[in-house]
Amino acid sequence: MSSIWENKQTISGHIASPIDLPRHVAIIMDGNGRWALKKGLPRTEGHKAGVEKIRMISKVLGEAGVKFVTIYAFSTENWSRPKSEVLGIMGILEEVIETETERLHQNGVRIIHLGRSDRLAKKLRTSVNHAQELTKHNQSMTLCIAFDYGGRAEILRAIKQIMADGISRKEIGETLLNKYLYTHNIPDPDLIIRTGGEKRLSNFLLWQSAYSELYFTPVHWPDLEPKQIIEALNEFASRRRRFGSLEKDF
Ligand code: IPE
Ligand code: IPE
Ligand code: MG
Repeated sequence: MSSIWENKQTISGHIASPIDLPRHVAIIMDGNGRWALKKGLPRTEGHKAGVEKIRMISKVLGEAGVKFVTIYAFSTENWSRPKSEVLGIMGILEEVIETETERLHQNGVRIIHLGRSDRLAKKLRTSVNHAQELTKHNQSMTLCIAFDYGGRAEILRAIKQIMADGISRKEIGETLLNKYLYTHNIPDPDLIIRTGGEKRLSNFLLWQSAYSELYFTPVHWPDLEPKQIIEALNEFASRRRRFGSLEKDF
């Protein structure tokens, strides 16, 4: 048993099977607003509390040996929320990227933004570019943060770029399309966790989630504890993935 497992046991009191560890865990962090409203706080306070959890959860997953973690932070549809909330979320994202990048870099984490950057405020765009550039050779873990991200928009963008590149019809296949997605060189998520009780993907990694295992928990994102993440990893380890084929052992 590696020290990773020992750490994990200390943190959570639970052990996940190291054999069936997902390579890529993607998380739809939902429930920030409801968490705040339940406490009589403005929704933005929920987003602030949520940021703390990104730090903790990515640490737990990294210690567990998960190599790719993706966090869904802001969808293409979230622009339709009240301007004050959108500005609040963007401000929090900016702050967190600025304050966390150095620490993540020290820990060997590669940061990747999934989504459009042209609609972001200039300062946020600059911080994102800096974080990606600084950490691009890091290898201990890849942390993808999806914001201004939508699965449909991502696929449309890929199609348009393929056309603009004059790629011929016979060259177009799954491997080629993968190269045109924000997630090129990142394996498909093995496990998608959604907090906050809703049981849907809300436009998240639509192409990449074709064979992802889905795990839903009613816990609001700011209330999420390491033990719930370990529970999700344990549940994943007990799933039988068949990929359309017949039963086989993994
Ligand atoms: C998820 O929390 C974070 C974002 C979508 C930005 P919500 O803000 O959706 O929280 P609920 O679902 O309203 O509780
Ligand atoms: C999904 O949550 C988007 C993010 C977590 C960033 P939403 O709260 O936007 O999803 P819906 O509206 O409940 O489907
Ligand atoms: Mg929500």
